[in-house]
Amino acid sequence: MVLSLNKLDTDWWRQAAIYQIYPRSFKDSNGDGLGDINGITSKVAYLKSLSLDAVWLSPFYPSALADGGYDVSDYRNVDPRLGTLEDFDQMVTALHNNNIRVFVDIVPNHSSDQHAWFQEALASKPGSRARDRYIFRDGKGKNGELPPNDWVSHFAPSAWTRSKNSDGTPGQWYLHLFAPEQPDFNWDNREVQLDFLKTLKFWADRGVDGFRIDVAHALKKDMSKINKSYPKLKGFDITDKGNDILFDRNEVHEIYREWRKLFNEYNPPRVAVAEAYVMAKRRMLYARPDELGQAFNFDLLVAPYDAKTFKRIIKDNIKLAKTEGSSSTWVLNNHDKVRHATKYGLPKNADLNQWLLSDGKDIPLNRAQGSKRARAASMLTMALPGCVYIYQGEELGLFEVEDLQHQDLQDPNWIRNVEIKSQRTFFKKEGKTIKGVAVVHTEKGRDGCRVPLPWTSSGRSFGFGSADAHLPQPSWFAEHSVQSQTGVNESTLELYRMALALRAKYQSTEEIEWIKTGDPEVLHFKRENSWHCVMNFGGATYTLPAGEILVTSAPIKGRSLPKDTCAWIMAPQ
Ligand code: GLC
Repeated sequence: MVLSLNKLDTDWWRQAAIYQIYPRSFKDSNGDGLGDINGITSKVAYLKSLSLDAVWLSPFYPSALADGGYDVSDYRNVDPRLGTLEDFDQMVTALHNNNIRVFVDIVPNHSSDQHAWFQEALASKPGSRARDRYIFRDGKGKNGELPPNDWVSHFAPSAWTRSKNSDGTPGQWYLHLFAPEQPDFNWDNREVQLDFLKTLKFWADRGVDGFRIDVAHALKKDMSKINKSYPKLKGFDITDKGNDILFDRNEVHEIYREWRKLFNEYNPPRVAVAEAYVMAKRRMLYARPDELGQAFNFDLLVAPYDAKTFKRIIKDNIKLAKTEGSSSTWVLNNHDKVRHATKYGLPKNADLNQWLLSDGKDIPLNRAQGSKRARAASMLTMALPGCVYIYQGEELGLFEVEDLQHQDLQDPNWIRNVEIKSQRTFFKKEGKTIKGVAVVHTEKGRDGCRVPLPWTSSGRSFGFGSADAHLPQPSWFAEHSVQSQTGVNESTLELYRMALALRAKYQSTEEIEWIKTGDPEVLHFKRENSWHCVMNFGGATYTLPAGEILVTSAPIKGRSLPKDTCAWIMAPQ
């Protein structure tokens, strides 16, 4: 493998700019409506124009797509609809030749129900070795017709699905914290542990530089507590003792310590980042140097646009990262959440799910405000010490696509979160009155931030590919396309290009110093090299400090920083 990357730089990940690619929606090279690996390779020059240190690819493995690829049927292969392993190797080479490293997504909590091991488990007897790789249990009730307990899944309702024996009769139940098509592995099983080491080695040997670990906090469960009730999934309120039945158990760290030993066999050592929705201080346990090394901080991702909240989050996270010798991470968008340009264009307390369910009709979206605030907030996070994670399309200023039609939705969050409202609804079909039920979806899901990127301002799928995109793109994508923004000074794309290039140039130590502004709406900090970042969230116009104005998120007059604007200044040292 050609490597122009600096192999001696073992700290490259500490302050990197990492771009998340959702492969099926990035660029379609073969006209089947799905983005693919060759599509990514064809856009390396674009990625380079963003001065990135790395890209992270959401799953591209063979998958029945019950959960956007997070239901993996074969961990050591490429979905044939997305390409081949040779295509993958070529993509890695092309990225490495352009100094861009590669992260892949590892999904260890569950596989797809199409995975060979799960199929083998279904065909095998209760108590068999094949079943022990997953979590099968007998049901309750006279004939085992009731689930073993009341545990719930993220894609509601029950976390248990009854399997069928090979002769078609109903059999045992299996656990899935997500969709029924995503059976959970039994992480007490050594074969499972060894197989994931094999997967990590497989990709690391192919030149992959880092791994993003999906639901890293869920792998170990206390199945001795199967009789305990757990009717509601906990979020950040999981106990801080490491003894919850399902999440963030202390034993999970043994797994990552073993992974770290493998990562350190490589030069430079492979890196990893945990997706762990747990309390902030517990999150850092995953980031310990003898474990994954880094953990996502999702605090800004879920925070409102508010100066005080931002400041608190920034301060806390910089401090927290240091406790375990890690660096901070900053995330404003990902494939699971409403895009920040939309969030900031809605009232602070808006219920985003309800708004999506109304197809964006129940509250008007202030696009100009959302976009202005999103640009400013992005610049703020790019100036912070640590890693900045950028989700594809945010550099184009994309909004959430709020009005996807029901028949187009793919997310299990939409499909599975339903309530049966009435058993007595009658409706007419072909002249007959039929008794039925009204099914009401309670979550719109995450498809609105996963709509394929617009590369050109016209064409069947705005240059995404030659066929219709797998999720329909709205007409307003035209003005957000790469083509319409390239070379346009005030476009969001050119702002990201400029800011990321300056960030790479002026990157400094991991320290920041806060400067008093006298206005709680204005945040001002500087890095050790006198690189200043000033952001006015909503206060009166603020006078910028002396020095060269490097870039501003919106045009300013003289040295006055208006609200919803961020500026970077290089002050005289
Ligand atoms: C993570 C992924 C999400 C997926 C879930 C189950 O939270 O980010 O997209 O649905 O894990 O794998």
